[in-house]
Amino acid sequence: MVKLGVIGSGNGSNFQAILEAIDQGRLPAQIACVLSDSPDAHILLRAKTSGIPAIGIDCSPFRTKLDGRAEEEVIRTMQDFNVDYIVLAGFMRMIKTGLLSAFPRKIVNIHPSLLPAFPGLASWKQALEYGVKWTGCTVHFVDSGMDTGPIIVQKVVPVMDTDTPESLHDRIRQQEHIAYPEALEFLLSGKAILDGRLVRSAAISE
Ligand code: GRF
Repeated sequence: MVKLGVIGSGNGSNFQAILEAIDQGRLPAQIACVLSDSPDAHILLRAKTSGIPAIGIDCSPFRTKLDGRAEEEVIRTMQDFNVDYIVLAGFMRMIKTGLLSAFPRKIVNIHPSLLPAFPGLASWKQALEYGVKWTGCTVHFVDSGMDTGPIIVQKVVPVMDTDTPESLHDRIRQQEHIAYPEALEFLLSGKAILDGRLVRSAAISE
């Protein structure tokens, strides 16, 4: 069974959606462990409640990246759990070369916009302030850039005139909960072919 190691900093609703997909037989995988840079993060509580090892990682002295001793601890922990894929679910730090080279093309992330539009923080707010009529979410491979890796799955969400940042983020999140299990299922099916920065379906390339 393919093993996933999840890393998050916050609520963990995407982790929960992936776990539900596994429990419902939609995703042939197992979540081996959940790591967080924040010991009080709700994602750790959710993991514990589900009987999944939940581990806090002290990422100091860095504030915005996973580097140094903490990066080594994450690599060691993921290797100890025999993790095949690392799933970033609301992890608020940049991933550096140590982890990227320990798990090449095996780290995925979800971002709350239609990349390459609105990378970085609070993308739903950026979308609202820019005035786009459509936004969405993107599941992508992680590379050394900020939300720049090859795109696996995207879902589109309309922006309403009446939207607040919160209402838009809520609607995006609903699509994230569909997109992430779908993207993982696609990867684990073996049909996803990475061609440069393009992710293609084997059925199309043949
Ligand atoms: C999601 O909006 C995701 O796109 C972003 O962080 C948020 C995490 O939410 N990267 P949750 O912790 O999974 O509820």
